Amino acid sequence: ADLTEFNTFGVRSNAKRLWTLDSLEDLSEFITLYNESRNPLILGGGSNVLLTKDVEGDVFHVAIKGVTYENNDDTSVFVTAMAGENWHQLVEACLKKNLYGLENLALIPGTVGAAPIQNIGAYGVELKDRLVSVQAIDLEKGEFRTFNVDECAFGYRDSLFKRQLGRWLIVSITLRLSRQFEPVINYSPLNQLETNDLTAKDIFDTVVKTRQAKLPDPKRLGNGGSFFKNPVVDKSLAESLKQEFPDMPTYMVDDSNVKLAAGWLIDQLGLKGYREGDAGVHEHQALVLVNFKSASGEQINQLADTVLAKVKARFGIALEKEVRVI
Ligand code: FAD
Ligand code: EPU
Repeated sequence: ADLTEFNTFGVRSNAKRLWTLDSLEDLSEFITLYNESRNPLILGGGSNVLLTKDVEGDVFHVAIKGVTYENNDDTSVFVTAMAGENWHQLVEACLKKNLYGLENLALIPGTVGAAPIQNIGAYGVELKDRLVSVQAIDLEKGEFRTFNVDECAFGYRDSLFKRQLGRWLIVSITLRLSRQFEPVINYSPLNQLETNDLTAKDIFDTVVKTRQAKLPDPKRLGNGGSFFKNPVVDKSLAESLKQEFPDMPTYMVDDSNVKLAAGWLIDQLGLKGYREGDAGVHEHQALVLVNFKSASGEQINQLADTVLAKVKARFGIALEKEVRVI
């Protein structure tokens, strides 16, 4: 099976076979096939993977649809969405129903089922802030299991599911959304919004506009969003860099740790717009690597390693890839 349409980098790769899960009725067959396959790969929208070669085993594409809404109390609603739902469409649907809490997470590509894997986040909100539970299948034991939010062990772009990749098939997630709008506007450019009469739609629109200006649309230019995680470093290292680069953005994590902007570090090296063949560093956002047309996954990964080495040499910081390289 040709996977070009199944990864947002648009790189060419083949899998032996591609199975699609679009109904819960097929779940037990799906689990059997998964366990029979050597090196199986679960894929949702393919927006956080870089395929550097053909996939050795079968690909299991999760496409189960459905969303249910259940009143919790006067002010909150439980929203349960199946793994194959499109994330952004869920954000839009909730906003339309005047259910608040997801507006900062607009326009993140991919599926609902992948959202807990790296605890998707943007503009000051992470999935974990809205999540109640994850319903998953233990693919080793063939058992159903519900995880409450604490059991998911979420971190910045991290979760239990990510640490045990391939073991859990996420089937659905349950969120708690509010009927009362409580804006989260500490993150730029939301902190510049006029707070009088501010609506969730205003936040949604600002996030969409900002993202469209900075991030390439995978339909036009292949990419996987941020290629690296923002590094969390010791406060003392951040302070010494800050003396050399007073304009460097920093985000406090806790008393002793500071998060730096990987995009800023790469940008400082003059790499914005840098290109090796059809693999390049995006001209508006240095944290995003792009496929201009026919770069291979291997070429994009080589470019990533070049960027890693340069950041390490100049700043002494080892970036970590956010995209899953396969
Ligand atoms: P895939 O790429 O298909 O899979 C990602 C990983 O999850 C793989 O390891 C896969 O095996 C596993 N997986 C997928 N579905 C399941 C399932 N049902 N059960 C178990 N495992 C599964 N991310 C952010 O956090 N914030 C952003 O702001 C953001 N912006 C982006 C912008 C662009 C333009 C792009 C291309 C990506 C961006 N991303 C962002 C990354 C991406 O959108 C998220 O990681 C998203 O959750 C991936 O969803 P997907 O369905 O495409 O996952
Ligand atoms: N910056 C530069 N040059 C660049 C890129 C960024 O100077 O080329 C500076 C910006 O000016 C800003 C800072 O770096 O001061 C941070 O940039 P930005 O706000 O664009 O966000 P980011 O840190 O690059 C992170 C997430 C994104 C998420 C945005 C918004 C990670 C790895 N990335 O990007 O998530 O959408 O914040 O919250 O945490 C993703 O995970 O794929 C993703 C796109």
